[in-house]
Amino acid sequence: MKKIEQAAQLIEQNKSLFRCPICQEEIRVENTSVICNSHHQFDLAKKGYINFYSKASPRDYDRKLFEARYQVIQSGMYDLLHQKITEIIKGLDYQVANILDLGCGEGSHLQKITQQLDITFVGIGMDIAKDGIITAAKYHQGLIWTVADLAQSPYPSSQFDILLNILTPANYQEFKRLLHTDGRLIKVIPRSGYLQEIREQVMGEKQQTYVNDEIMAHFKKHFDNVEIHTVQYQWEVPADLLEDIWYMTPLTWRKEIEQSIEWVTIDLDIIIGY
Ligand SMILES: C[S@@+](CC[C@H](N)C(=O)[O-])C[C@H]1O[C@@H](n2cnc3c(N)ncnc32)[C@H](O)[C@@H]1O
Ligand SMILES: [Zn+2]
Repeated sequence: MKKIEQAAQLIEQNKSLFRCPICQEEIRVENTSVICNSHHQFDLAKKGYINFYSKASPRDYDRKLFEARYQVIQSGMYDLLHQKITEIIKGLDYQVANILDLGCGEGSHLQKITQQLDITFVGIGMDIAKDGIITAAKYHQGLIWTVADLAQSPYPSSQFDILLNILTPANYQEFKRLLHTDGRLIKVIPRSGYLQEIREQVMGEKQQTYVNDEIMAHFKKHFDNVEIHTVQYQWEVPADLLEDIWYMTPLTWRKEIEQSIEWVTIDLDIIIGY
């Protein structure tokens, strides 16, 4: 089956997890389009994703960055983070779960987390960057890839058991609307040591210590129950991944690598809200 047909089938089978981002009506799939009851139409792409975002994607994240992120994430840089998130999801004892990754980029986090689950699930990744979603659809099958804006999202209320929001801007009002009453928001934010080896090269002396207190305080305002898990380790950079490590973050935009990077520090907080 062609990628576009696979995407059409997956969306049709799970159409209750979508709504029109313009008028909020139900949607259905007709041939290679998604159509709502008021006839707004969104096209499926040959590459196997659906585009709900009518404007041009912002240019701060491009294909080169997403390809680099794909190589690095597939090489295992975030494996311990994925393991921890998988453990958290398994601990919730869902038999079935609708999982939505908001700001999924090239999709490897969603793919690596869901492949470790032994429950029935539907996995949807969304990002405003079309290049991210094109990369996700290129590499990962069995998941639904959507170009969409968090500010005008194409998903109905209270349908999702797990929302992932990994190193990506939040919209807490929207997260609460999307979550099922027993659902969980799992957000990942950087701590002070995160990728310090890259930041040191880019910013040198100008580098300032980063603290995530404000994000944490903001998060706590929106959820009665908050759990925090810290994930800290150093990851040895395989020599052939040096370029990908460098280009995987917008920090290094238009800057050349000066020194080799042998290790990178992963220093993250997983915050769970419900
Ligand atoms: C640092 S990247 C992280 C991507 C991915 N979660 C990862 O860790 O590889 C931040 C992502 O947030 C996305 N993003 C920013 N604003 C967004 C919005 N309003 N709606 C959807 N995605 C958005 C960007 O396009 C980008 O892919
Ligand atoms: Zn509509």
